[in-house]
Amino acid sequence: MSKAKIAVNGYGTIGKRVADAVQAQDDMEIIGVAKTRPNYEAAVAAQLGYDIYTLADRVESFEKAGIPAAGTLDDMVEKADLVVDCTPGGVGESNKAVYEKAGVKAIWQGGEDHELTGFSFNAVSNYEGALGLDFVRVVSCNTTGLCRVIYPIDREFGVKKARITLVRRSADPNDAKKGPINAIVPNPIKLPSHHGPDVKSVLPNINISTMAMKIPTTLMHLHTINLELEKDCTAEDVKEVLGTQSRVRFVGQGITSTAEIIEVARDLKRPRNDMWENCVWDESITIDDGELYFFQAIHQESDVVPENVDAIRAMMELESDGAKSIAKTNKAIGL
Ligand SMILES: NC(=O)c1ccc[n+]([C@@H]2O[C@H](COP(=O)([O-])OP(=O)(O)OC[C@H]3O[C@@H](n4cnc5c(N)ncnc54)[C@H](OP(=O)(O)O)[C@@H]3O)[C@@H](O)[C@H]2O)c1
Repeated sequence: MSKAKIAVNGYGTIGKRVADAVQAQDDMEIIGVAKTRPNYEAAVAAQLGYDIYTLADRVESFEKAGIPAAGTLDDMVEKADLVVDCTPGGVGESNKAVYEKAGVKAIWQGGEDHELTGFSFNAVSNYEGALGLDFVRVVSCNTTGLCRVIYPIDREFGVKKARITLVRRSADPNDAKKGPINAIVPNPIKLPSHHGPDVKSVLPNINISTMAMKIPTTLMHLHTINLELEKDCTAEDVKEVLGTQSRVRFVGQGITSTAEIIEVARDLKRPRNDMWENCVWDESITIDDGELYFFQAIHQESDVVPENVDAIRAMMELESDGAKSIAKTNKAIGL
């Protein structure tokens, strides 16, 4: 069977990782990536062997920079079966007409609103719902991390109420404009934060309230999780359930912070130090007064990457079983 032809529009933090993860699969391939500027990222993409496309009025600037474009964004979209839009949040929306005109399927990221596609995706929670769809949104790094643990715990014990605090990195490590900040910023100040409704875009039946703050770090986010459950259970029962989730990694053995988690990713020789899994401190899993508590860390640059691969597989109907797709994606990228 021929491979699904995938294009990536927006080759930044998420786009470059999605391109490499797609290229690692045996049932899909990258036919091109789109950049607006002929900068160092475009040069590296070319060095990695990706065909680079750009906006019609930028082709000449790529030529001048010595990174010739293979064509325009429209040319790339024409050749693709599916475009993964990884342009900055809010920009992606404006590309919908381009994809619709070309009759190509598309995935957007968590920076866009649920309403853009009407389907918000998380592989373990709703893979089957994306089968054959034309437009899908892969939810944000934080929402992905929350769905991965709330869904299996809800299935097993029933979640009566979820209360979550998100301690967020202020900027990505490569961001020389935004941070790190020298402050702790309640963000947003008006509560509850938008993260709860975003989880509900995937898991509509979950009763959830969230608050969030930004802090001076670039490495990872950290979530404090408190779940009121329908059924009585022990911390061991919860560990058993989370232990079945391939995209949940228990951390301990002297790991006391996000810094050491990233060191583990480095030691594992993960590409770009990526930690695709939720990192749950199993020692923190506690039942207190009948409620569940634990800490997890989320690598914002990479946890959505395997989810994008699974979303492609569902939309292209390359695999009807979500568990099989998750296993295939994981194996191909080395998770
Ligand atoms: N970073 C995270 O922590 C994270 C985590 C999960 C989800 N997301 C979501 O993923 C999406 C992408 O975020 P990101 O962090 O990867 O952004 P990013 O690092 O800023 O990358 C976006 C890329 O899109 C390109 N771009 C800018 N304007 C464009 C335009 N008008 N048309 C086409 N390309 C354009 C930029 O490169 P050139 O202009 O040089 O071509 C840039 O490299 C957003 O929806 C975001 O919310 C981000």
